Amino acid sequence: MQGFTAHPAMRVAGTMTVPGDKSISHRALMLSGIAEGVSEISGFLASEDCLATLGAMRALGVHIEQPGETRVVIHGVGMRGLHGAARPLDMGNAGTAMRLFTGLLCAQEFDSLLIGDESLMKRPMERVATPLREMGAEVRTRNGTPPVEISGSRRLRGIDYRMPIASAQVKSAILLASLYAAEPTTITAPAVSRDHSERMLKSCGVRLVAAGLRITLHPPQRLHSQKLKVPGDFSSAAFFIVAGLLAAPPQGLLIRNVGLNPTRTGLLEILQRMGGQIEILNLRESGAEPVADLRISASALHGIAVPKDLVSLAIDELPVLFIAAACAQGETVVTGAEELRVKESDRIAAMSAGLAALGVAHTALPDGMRIDGRETGSAFTGGTIDSCGDHRIAMSFAIASLRAAGVIDIRDVANVATSFPGFLPLAQSVGLGLQESAA
Ligand code: S3P
Repeated sequence: MQGFTAHPAMRVAGTMTVPGDKSISHRALMLSGIAEGVSEISGFLASEDCLATLGAMRALGVHIEQPGETRVVIHGVGMRGLHGAARPLDMGNAGTAMRLFTGLLCAQEFDSLLIGDESLMKRPMERVATPLREMGAEVRTRNGTPPVEISGSRRLRGIDYRMPIASAQVKSAILLASLYAAEPTTITAPAVSRDHSERMLKSCGVRLVAAGLRITLHPPQRLHSQKLKVPGDFSSAAFFIVAGLLAAPPQGLLIRNVGLNPTRTGLLEILQRMGGQIEILNLRESGAEPVADLRISASALHGIAVPKDLVSLAIDELPVLFIAAACAQGETVVTGAEELRVKESDRIAAMSAGLAALGVAHTALPDGMRIDGRETGSAFTGGTIDSCGDHRIAMSFAIASLRAAGVIDIRDVANVATSFPGFLPLAQSVGLGLQESAA
């Protein structure tokens, strides 16, 4: 699939579920692979990113069965049971896989080489390599980017590390390495980032002590296997949360089984402050994660200055928030989001180019965006969008079609499969006027 053609549609309604959580699926494969015994994962996200992790774990000697698309059975080899891969490990587009594997593999007896696709080969890796070197690991990057070369057989020591950025990938890489260190490791973060690694490590029996933004991991002898039901990915639900709000009243959507980990749900609070009507129903625990159903009602939105402390809790959802902001009365300002510059694309530049192509008044800031929105009528003209090979840019502009005066052509959408297989038919099933195109 090369592109999407999005025809204007106002009607969005129905009940849906979204595929499993990407962050949790990556972590489930890695931690189960080094656990003792057999782990069973259901609700696994069989997207390109997570399949890259699955392929890499297999190449490292872990037997993994996939009895159904979203079910995996992992025969853990124990903390010391991985063996070196015969070939470079290809992480595709997956930054999470590349960074977490750097942490896991720098503690092994063997050498490893990590590569990725064109976008991943440009992404910063020193943020992970620097603290790992402090632990005694030997990790080399090429001018700060992949390939990442790791020399094994290094004895790691525990460190007390102050992270300069609030990154769950950096934190998780250090946590994975620190499983193998001679002493406990403490990490202090500048702000909250997703805590799936901490939750899952605890479920596997690892002693982790958290105090505010500080966590200490005590190296274990072994990890227990797990039986895990992965919740729907909040970041995938985000597109439909915004779609439900932008639909013409009285329509709306019910999205079932969405992961509501509080380190991920900044978008909910931001949209509620903008006037979005979102009800959380049937809140429950699934494994170590909170899960609920979300009822989204068509709402009149107004612009806000997004509080900085919500930005790291909504980092992957900011592209689709910008779409909501274009349909909100008045000005919305997001700052403190400079991390958007180093995602699968420069998301500030990619969103700014797309908003400009669709006639939205906005200013791209070095660390965010100022958008002057319109609540009534069409917020967007028709036009052509370059997704820059970034799944979240492509899906965000597909949602814009709900308030567009003309057809939106979105180019270069193959990467939607990295996080959200089945996005197109699911979007069609609730009423979006989306079609595949060859362009
Ligand atoms: C992720 C962490 C975030 C997020 C990414 C997934 C993870 O990245 O943007 O999509 O699974 O740990 P950073 O750690 O770079 O903020």
